[in-house]
Amino acid sequence: MGNKGLSAIRPMLGFVFFLVTLHLVYGDLSYSVSEEMKRDAVIGNLAKDLGLDRISISSRQARVDFEDIRKTYCDINRSTGELVTSERIDRESLCGNKPSCVLKVDLVLENPLELHRVSLHIQDVNDNSPQFKDHLIEMEISELAEKGSRFPIEEAHDADIGQNAVQRYILQKNDHFILSVDSKKVDLVLENKLDREKQKEMNLLLTALDGGSPQRSGTVVIHVTVLDANDNAPVFSQPLTRALHLCPPLKLFSYL
Ligand SMILES: *[C@@H]1O[C@H](CO)[C@@H](O)[C@H](O)[C@H]1NC(C)=O
Repeated sequence: MGNKGLSAIRPMLGFVFFLVTLHLVYGDLSYSVSEEMKRDAVIGNLAKDLGLDRISISSRQARVDFEDIRKTYCDINRSTGELVTSERIDRESLCGNKPSCVLKVDLVLENPLELHRVSLHIQDVNDNSPQFKDHLIEMEISELAEKGSRFPIEEAHDADIGQNAVQRYILQKNDHFILSVDSKKVDLVLENKLDREKQKEMNLLLTALDGGSPQRSGTVVIHVTVLDANDNAPVFSQPLTRALHLCPPLKLFSYL
């Protein structure tokens, strides 16, 4: 019976709690934090920003609560009143490639109960390099390919955002190809026709660079095999008649 009574008043209690909480929410605080900072890095001085002294931070049991995140990314150092990181924050795993990454934290003080919303704006640092899907791209191009022919290359990816993402590509200097990059689409463009009789294959190094500081890069080797177009009359290394004489007669017959 006691249980029944409790379940009846539970929604009411919830509503009262909601009203009380509403009352207790004070102004928001907002801090900017770089990802990948080591443990115990200072994010900001809560005591100062809330106009409290360090003793109240400690005596009022200041603590942080993360909304629906099990990890605790930061904590309060009660002896200094500072908000500090309690573990490394990885922006990429938290927010992927979203342009803005904000962690919401509740700061709770007791006696009297007080609740502050703290927003942590996680700043991207250039901790990822551009990467091509493979280390080697195999290409077969006919020596008949015309000047201006385009051969698409899969673009490089960088988990970072903005300037820290891929900004440009550099193709190793070579006699046949130049690079064309148009809104992320990367093409090899044939500048000078290929000739298999002069060069059967070639390796071209392609580098992707981001715009971070320090700058990071990733490379891929493009291996081009030049396909024969059968454009030269066959040249025998020895006279045909002599070659025929070397074959046993029966076998020669079966060829015909
Ligand atoms: C709080 O900060 C002080 C001064 O930086 C430091 O000596 C102390 O170890 C910190 N306390 C905790 C619990 O991190």
